[in-house]
Order: sequence, then structure tokens, then C-alpha cells
Amino acid sequence: MDSSHVENDLVNVLFTEEQIQARLAELAREIERDYDGKDLLIVGILRGAVMVMADLARSFGRHLEMDWMAVSSYGSGTKSSGVVRILKDLDTDISGRHVIIVDEIIDTGLTLSWLTSNLGSRSPASVEICTLLRKPEALQMPVDVKYVGWDIPNEFVVGYGLDYRERYRNLRDIGTLAPHVYS
Ligand code: PRP
Repeated sequence: MDSSHVENDLVNVLFTEEQIQARLAELAREIERDYDGKDLLIVGILRGAVMVMADLARSFGRHLEMDWMAVSSYGSGTKSSGVVRILKDLDTDISGRHVIIVDEIIDTGLTLSWLTSNLGSRSPASVEICTLLRKPEALQMPVDVKYVGWDIPNEFVVGYGLDYRERYRNLRDIGTLAPHVYS
């Protein structure tokens, strides 16, 4: 789906498909340099990270492994509870492995902060984070993020895996959702 299909729902297009692909290619080059000679496992956090994982992985000019986790952020409560539950765990034993957690957005930081410490307790060689987007103004927990596509304002963004009530994930671009859609 292109932005033209939902243009009345968007305030603006923040990043086009082309800009996203170019930025992911840059991040892949940077990661390749940092992990030269090391094996690498990238872990995508379902469901939003599917697009980033697919395009980031294909931007690499080297072998890597992919695995997935699904977590329910914040249980049944609010974001501020900070409770994260694992719905689908890794199939891979990560002890001694170099791991990069891949997500599409860091908002409050609660999910990735919890995940980093959870995976860190499994004796990996290293755990780093790669996120396409980060909202510095929304951060509630310090999260050490090594690879960031872009920092963005604290606005409701959709597309490229990011949803509003499960819609817009299949939008090629990333846009700011118009308030009339969610208010
Ligand atoms: C999003 C995103 C992160 C989390 C970030 O997932 O993929 O995992 O929120 O938010 P935080 O920094 O406030 O913890 P979401 O819970 O929307 O699930 P989804 O990927 O299935 O859409």
C-alpha cells in the first residue's frame, strides 16, 4: 500500500520507502564493519519488526542467522507498568553468540530495556539493539541503542510495520497519523 492510498489519514509522510531502504543499507554496512569475522544472529520482535528484518537482512553482503521473539508489552495494564511477557521465545540457544535485537520503534524504552536484560542473562557473547525509529521525548527507561535509523518527534507514526489497531502495517512509507483517525 502506498501513501496515496491513505493520504487522508496522514498528516505527512515522514520517510519514504526509498529513504527507508537507503538508511537500512547504511545501517547494514555499519553492522558488517562492526561484526567483521564474527557470527551474527539478528532477533526480530514480532510483529512490527517484520519489514525492518526482511529489508535489513537482505541489505547484508554476508551470512547471518535470523530468529524471532513475540512479547506482549505491558501485560494487560498500561505502558507504565513495565511488565513484559514472552509469547514466543527464541528457538536459538544464544550462549556465546553475538546478538542484535531488531525493532521498528523504541517509544518508552520499556520493551527493549527488558528484552536486553532478558537476553543478556542467557550468556551471549554480546547483545546490541538496532531500531529504525526512536522517540527520545517518550523515553522512560534508559536504553543503550547502538544502531538507530532516525530519532523522531513524539507523534503517532504508522507504516512499514507500525500499526494503529493492526492497520497501516503494510504501508510502504512511514507517516504521521492524522488525529481524526484516532480521536
Ligand atoms: C512496539 C515496538 C516495540 C515496542 C516499543 O511493539 O515494536 O516492541 O512497541 O515500545 P516501548 O519502547 O514503549 O516499549 P508493539 O507493542 O506495538 O507490538 P507490535 O510490534 O506487534 O505492533
